[in-house]
Amino acid sequence: MGEIIIERISTGIDDLDIKLNGGYPKNRAILVTGSTGVGKTIFGLHFLHRSCTEGKKCVLIATEELPDDIFHQAKIIGLNLEDYYNSGQLIIEGLFEIRAQRAENVKKYGFMPEGLSVELPSIVNSISEDTDVVVVDNLGAYTLSLSVQDFKDQFDALNFIFIGKSYTSLFIMDDVSYNIIKQVADYSVYGLIRLMVKENPYTGKVERYISIPKVRSTNISLDLIVFDITSEGIIFLRPQQEQ
Ligand SMILES: Nc1ncnc2c1ncn2[C@@H]1O[C@H](COP(=O)(O)OP(=O)(O)O)[C@@H](O)[C@H]1O
Ligand SMILES: [Mg+2]
Repeated sequence: MGEIIIERISTGIDDLDIKLNGGYPKNRAILVTGSTGVGKTIFGLHFLHRSCTEGKKCVLIATEELPDDIFHQAKIIGLNLEDYYNSGQLIIEGLFEIRAQRAENVKKYGFMPEGLSVELPSIVNSISEDTDVVVVDNLGAYTLSLSVQDFKDQFDALNFIFIGKSYTSLFIMDDVSYNIIKQVADYSVYGLIRLMVKENPYTGKVERYISIPKVRSTNISLDLIVFDITSEGIIFLRPQQEQ
């Protein structure tokens, strides 16, 4: 029987690539969750920057920050995203563009046809076919008016469409939204990464932790890893138990 080899695509964080047997599984979706300020957006910036340097076409759906703020944060951790944006290799879409497209549909059809009334799968309308990498930051922006079941249905639909188009995607979601949708987003994605800030019980120091509860077709340990954000972005420090 032939073994299915899942190609890998660099996460942009070298320590994480090692942990994930080479990177995120290609043409699949990963969900990154965590509380505010923990480093989720920076995770996305690493992935986008590395993908751009590898010549991949990238789309960032940014619901919270404007392009200039994104470039500024990237620069602080030593990543130049602006050049890729200016050359068109990186496209940044805001929530407003997506809302506007929805309004355009209403204008075009005179009403919101069934099937088009869903908000989350319509993200795909703002992504060109030749895109390789999609980062959605923050998926929580799409959950606010949805029931848990509707969110799950729409997120499943979106993932199905993304896989059909061979996008490698990183969905970023804040903990508040993630808990509101009762963490059902877990079931739709290929891999899960949780970022946390908590107090080290031995030192009393508040630290950043990463936990990887699941990545299909990847052999990973469940140990928590302490990480830090530096002028070079995210670096892994040590497994939790070695303190
Ligand atoms: N160069 C840096 N050195 C240290 N910490 C940084 C640096 N750049 C950003 N940070 C930290 O990263 C955090 C923001 O990360 P971000 O990815 O925006 O969080 P999230 O998206 O989870 O809300 C801030 O709390 C800030 O303290
Ligand atoms: Mg963020």
